[in-house]
Amino acid sequence: MSSTHETNAVDRTAVLGLHEVSLVFNEGRPTKVRALRDVTLEIKATDVVGILGPSGSGKTSLLEVAAGLRQPTRGSIQLAGQELVGLSRSRISLIRRQSVRFVFQSDNLVPYLTAVENLQIMARISTGSKMESAAALALLEKLDIPSSAGRRLPRELSGGQQQRVAIARALVGRPSLILADEPTARLDRHTATAAIEALRLAADISSAALVVVSHDEEMLGTHCDRIIRLEDGQIIGGVQSL
Ligand SMILES: Nc1ncnc2c1ncn2[C@@H]1O[C@H](COP(=O)(O)OP(=O)(O)O)[C@@H](O)[C@H]1O
Ligand SMILES: [Mg+2]
Repeated sequence: MSSTHETNAVDRTAVLGLHEVSLVFNEGRPTKVRALRDVTLEIKATDVVGILGPSGSGKTSLLEVAAGLRQPTRGSIQLAGQELVGLSRSRISLIRRQSVRFVFQSDNLVPYLTAVENLQIMARISTGSKMESAAALALLEKLDIPSSAGRRLPRELSGGQQQRVAIARALVGRPSLILADEPTARLDRHTATAAIEALRLAADISSAALVVVSHDEEMLGTHCDRIIRLEDGQIIGGVQSL
């Protein structure tokens, strides 16, 4: 594990760097798509960054490449202080499990596990260690999920509570980067605002950087320190840094 990960509460070095990253699907075929074109960006510890762009602009591709879930066609990616391109899949997977958590739309909890068990299984997957239920309940409590709700199945919780459990799960193992892909897409405005606030709180608790993808400009503008605009796989307005 890198020293960046251990000390990111005070360390403002980059947790994520993309340098001239391109991603091409179906190269050499009529269905060829350039999902990312020469994307260069840097995200530092504790940054809260919005990625704004219409459907199909490459937002999800950007997160997938950033987390090492997809190999870029060109360019380099530094995650938690390590260059991903050229590393083996298992090495990338280890770095990802140690440093990155994803939050998606509200429905990605394991449906047959309680809220507490959803956190515990994340602990087993990400760090290989056992999480006591008291620790899981304490994390849930930080996101305003009472212990009575912690013992319920996702379907027995409100939409807002389910989303906060998904956010609490992103805290397991103290990641340095939280990537949220349209986390509020199916929530009403009030619940969406609460979810973004919970995400910010989660990033703060973990001293993690937060990247929130959305096509809701107003929401990102209100809650993010910086916005990166994507259009047709390209960053619009040049390289943006704090
Ligand atoms: N697995 C894939 N195979 C082929 N094309 C893809 C694949 N995934 C995404 N694309 C294409 O890449 C472009 C960017 O997609 P995506 O990153 O999902 O955009 P967004 O998340 O902004 O909606 C789109 O044109 C999409 O159709
Ligand atoms: Mg998407």
